[in-house]
Amino acid sequence: MPPPLLLGWGWGCLLLAHCGSGSGVSAPPTLNISLDQEPEERWKPLSLHFDPAYLKNASDQVIDSTVPKWVHQAVKPVVLALEKYMPQPYAGEIRGLAQLIGGSLSDAIILNFAYEVSAFCTSIVTQDKQGNIYHGRNLDYPHPVLRNLTINVNFLKNGKVVYQGTSFAGYIGLWTGQSPNKFTISGDQRGSEHWWNWWKNWVSAFLFRRSPVSWLVRETLENAEDFLDAVLRLSKVPIITGVYYIVGGVRAGEGVVITRDRTGPADIWPLEPVNGGWYRVETNYDHWKPSPEQDKRRKVANEALNATGQEHINIDTLYQVLSLYPVCNGVTVYTTTMSAAAPEKFTSVIRSQGCLP
Ligand SMILES: *[C@@H]1O[C@H](CO)[C@@H](O)[C@H](O)[C@H]1NC(C)=O
Ligand SMILES: *[C@@H]1O[C@H](CO)[C@@H](O)[C@H](O)[C@H]1NC(C)=O
Ligand SMILES: *[C@@H]1O[C@H](CO)[C@@H](O)[C@H](O)[C@H]1NC(C)=O
Ligand SMILES: *[C@@H]1O[C@H](CO)[C@@H](O)[C@H](O)[C@H]1NC(C)=O
Repeated sequence: MPPPLLLGWGWGCLLLAHCGSGSGVSAPPTLNISLDQEPEERWKPLSLHFDPAYLKNASDQVIDSTVPKWVHQAVKPVVLALEKYMPQPYAGEIRGLAQLIGGSLSDAIILNFAYEVSAFCTSIVTQDKQGNIYHGRNLDYPHPVLRNLTINVNFLKNGKVVYQGTSFAGYIGLWTGQSPNKFTISGDQRGSEHWWNWWKNWVSAFLFRRSPVSWLVRETLENAEDFLDAVLRLSKVPIITGVYYIVGGVRAGEGVVITRDRTGPADIWPLEPVNGGWYRVETNYDHWKPSPEQDKRRKVANEALNATGQEHINIDTLYQVLSLYPVCNGVTVYTTTMSAAAPEKFTSVIRSQGCLP
């Protein structure tokens, strides 16, 4: 039996990318970002959808709510000193964004790191009886302004979409993305970092050339040939903090949860459909350990997937699982469902009010 529909959206909404009046969800704007343009220039299309003054105010709100004031003051000079070590195209893109938004360069950098810390999430990769792969994610972040900043981004080369993702205006990394007809990726935070440790992360990012976790997602979407290549890159490339990478491919069996340490994989957890492992749920805890008693997301998602059954899993029933409280909760910003073999199905919706019990 499919799980009950807890939210108010109807079937018409399901057919039309989950949207409808009174549904509590809306579609983010879509931006085309051309990789053929200089990094400093390529984010200019943001101003077609956002007032730069609003972006400045919103990014200040995000920084104020995630970075303690004294840390903010203390890291400014450090950030500026490290800026010259920042790799391209990221340095140029962040410089361009700072100019567009009218804020300081150090704040544009800090904003891009602010999102690296408090993203709580749920990701699910599944396989149906025919061997089709579906991948879905909720991104949770405790600041409502992000709902207003959520965007879909198409990254283009020669006018063709080479990869796409869902992100936030002002942010250059990706936590959710698709390389059409190849693979899909989502990232979930692992462990909790404190801001006062973040200078170490910056130093390791820029001096020791470790990648912020969301930059590696983007690089992989841009460069990996296929599912296997993506999994290898996401497993091996040194990153600045632990994370879970969830990857879906285009063939039966191509689904995996990679648990990352900074230097390499701590665990690889693939789909194993022949042994009943037709789905994998990852929240923010190592899958081989119990999740904390008060956090029911994993349990509710597992139960709902069991109730749905492999014979009924598809992109819509996966969305229903991602709509159940508390998988979707008060701080859920957006939900994405995707299937790399059917790239046109890539859909993100903003959870305008989150989800209530
Ligand atoms: C953002 O704008 C609102 C309304 O104009 C204002 O009250 C608030 O102080 C601003 N926040 C920041 C961080 O600039
Ligand atoms: C988001 O945008 C809406 C509509 O412009 C506005 O009413 C609301 O206050 C904004 N929310 C935040 C948290 O800025
Ligand atoms: C983005 O680029 C694609 C591919 O060239 C095109 O089909 C689409 O209309 C463009 N969308 C926007 C919003 O410019
Ligand atoms: C889901 O089903 C599997 C296989 O039957 C079972 O091992 C697991 O305990 C079930 N999970 C939940 C949360 O019911």
